[in-house]
Amino acid sequence: MLSPEDNDLLSRVGPGTPMGELFRRFWIPALIPEELPGPDCDPVRLRLLGEDLVAFRDTNGRIGILDERCPHRRASMYFGRNEECGLRCVYHGWKFDVDGNCVEMPNEPPETDFKHKVRMKAYPSAEWGGYIWIYMGPADKKPPLPEFEWATLPPENRWQKKWHYNANYMQGFEGEIDTCHTTFLHRFVDFSTLSPGLAAAHSNWQNDGMPSIHIRPTDYGLYYGSQRDAPDGAYNWRITQWILPSNSIIPHPKYPISSRAYIPIDDDNTFVFGTSFNPEAPMTPEEREYLETGLGAAPQTIPGTFTPVINRDNNYMLDRDSQRAGNSTGIPGVNNQDRAIVESMGPIVDRENEHLGTSDKAIISSRRQLMQLAKDLQNGIEPVLPHNPAMFGVRAIDVISPSDELETVVETHRESLRLPAG
Ligand code: FES
Ligand SMILES: [Fe+2]
Repeated sequence: MLSPEDNDLLSRVGPGTPMGELFRRFWIPALIPEELPGPDCDPVRLRLLGEDLVAFRDTNGRIGILDERCPHRRASMYFGRNEECGLRCVYHGWKFDVDGNCVEMPNEPPETDFKHKVRMKAYPSAEWGGYIWIYMGPADKKPPLPEFEWATLPPENRWQKKWHYNANYMQGFEGEIDTCHTTFLHRFVDFSTLSPGLAAAHSNWQNDGMPSIHIRPTDYGLYYGSQRDAPDGAYNWRITQWILPSNSIIPHPKYPISSRAYIPIDDDNTFVFGTSFNPEAPMTPEEREYLETGLGAAPQTIPGTFTPVINRDNNYMLDRDSQRAGNSTGIPGVNNQDRAIVESMGPIVDRENEHLGTSDKAIISSRRQLMQLAKDLQNGIEPVLPHNPAMFGVRAIDVISPSDELETVVETHRESLRLPAG
């Protein structure tokens, strides 16, 4: 459990909040490239970390992410004209470039020089690893881009999707580092609806709902090994990665690996950026086709939106007959099941009334680490990860091993795990 004060510390991410400041030390994914398809394309509204923003691509293809509100009389720049290397507010014609400079102020006499005294809030952006990223922190603390393994691969090795969650980032993220729920929430009878990789994983998960969890906090977050009984006296070890502030790398016995970033829109809403990737080869058409069905690592979304097709408004297409027949939830698709349950907790879960057990160790540890880092930052201690971009590159694995020692498994698979030296 957490006190209401700690729950606020963990969950609230608006400007000036301790956790909001911690998030603002990292580059975070903000958009997919299709949202800004070309020079002078339509501007898009964007809300991140509780701030309303507008993004556009100028005539030279440069991306600008600005305050949504014009500094003149606060009209929305979303209605602006994207023209000749700038976004022009349609109310009185003030025009801003991608860096937030006011380049034209047609309703003021030039001799006042007013346009040089007005600036628009503008955040740095970058195109990297298949997403458009934003850095919302202090300029003098801007780190290099994070070297997630998937971001460094050729585009054909990955499949990516963005979708909306009706809940705080942390409760979505807590599902990622909760291996135990896979045995229960994702219990299936019909393996034919799963990809071969997921089906193989499920057969191990289904046989042991009481995995031993072994946590190893690190400078980048933590990893944990979950140990389940496997056939012939061996163990199924899943080593899952949490990378600050809210990125998971989830293993499967076969590629692709799933990585997800839970990016706060505000305290009650989250964008998930999901990347499924094969580090060794291009994703096959069959793998892509499976991911497009929305039954696996990511949901299908309503065209032109980031709203999942299966959502709260249609009761997640809950089918009680399917539930009676063995699908534990009666809801189709792994991610839809996760989202239904996480959203059912309310926008910010009441952690004062929860009762955490031994299977929740990774959740307990990650909360403690996040809250400590946020408090440290308030005291002037910067997180070390953002300025060590290679540390983001760790991998998760799902293996069968005769050993019951996490250290032995880690040593055997150290190269695959891509752990930092030391
Ligand atoms: S409100 Fe934007 S130019 Fe006046
Ligand atoms: Fe899940």
